[in-house]
Amino acid sequence: MNKLALVTGATSGIGRAFAERLAADGHDLVIVGRRQERLEEFAAVHPEVEVRTVAADLSTAEGIDAVAGICATEPLTLLVNNAGVAHYMPLAELPADKAAELVNVKVLAPTMLMRAAVVGMQERGEGTIVNVSGMIAFSGAAPRSQMPRRAVYGGSLAYLVAMSQILSAELAGTGVHVQVLCPGVVATEFHTRQGMDLSGVPRMTADEVVAASLRGLELGETVCAPGVEDVGLLDAAFQADLAAFGAQSPELAARYRAA
Ligand SMILES: NC(=O)c1ccc[n+]([C@@H]2O[C@H](COP(=O)([O-])OP(=O)(O)OC[C@H]3O[C@@H](n4cnc5c(N)ncnc54)[C@H](OP(=O)(O)O)[C@@H]3O)[C@@H](O)[C@H]2O)c1
Repeated sequence: MNKLALVTGATSGIGRAFAERLAADGHDLVIVGRRQERLEEFAAVHPEVEVRTVAADLSTAEGIDAVAGICATEPLTLLVNNAGVAHYMPLAELPADKAAELVNVKVLAPTMLMRAAVVGMQERGEGTIVNVSGMIAFSGAAPRSQMPRRAVYGGSLAYLVAMSQILSAELAGTGVHVQVLCPGVVATEFHTRQGMDLSGVPRMTADEVVAASLRGLELGETVCAPGVEDVGLLDAAFQADLAAFGAQSPELAARYRAA
């Protein structure tokens, strides 16, 4: 029996590249996205594997429930939480419906899909979850001059990093592995869909991002950063996080005490 992977946001970009590579590697697939015609077109050109298409809007409770139901009942070996939207905007200008859409697709949907999939994966003693975040997750300390305004998007990526790291530790020894994938700028439809032209910016290809993810899984990486040459930089950042975490005390720090 083939391995079974579910990929969200498989209609373009990184998700499509995951689906292509996984099909080439002999995985049966459940592919999710809103653009039904693209899902069907993918299935039509991949008769070598079984492809189930699921047209679902992961910004809605119905869409999330439908896909979570599949995660809970199908014997997934791999779940790729990839669907995403950018909505780069200063918070005060970000319409409420766009803020909710972003958080639903990038935070709520991955959470509910992981929650649904992890039960069976643990029972079967094997499984892999890949959450597609991005390097912006690490940009929180950047000054105003350096960064575009995109606090909700950046926050959603940081959620995926912390969530994946903590879940990975929680699942240690169960046979279930978690990776958070953190690309930099990738040549996909992501920016053009919101009217941005990044064709002049050096960009990685979606195929390269997928190759890094799969190799990162072989290397046992929880955090996979395809464009970061010196992996020691990431280790140092996480060690610094842990040092600050471990430095807390129940006593009020001196700088907060009344003079
Ligand atoms: N491109 C970059 O520079 C970059 C960098 C770092 C991280 N990322 C992350 O990579 C992931 C994939 O993005 P991409 O670059 O491949 O962009 P993309 O080409 O725009 O693909 C986004 C995918 O998400 C799906 N999607 C969006 N909203 C959805 C919804 N409400 N319900 C279901 N599916 C939805 C889209 O499918 P439908 O429109 O058919 O629904 C599409 O398949 C994103 O999560 C993004 O945060 C991208």
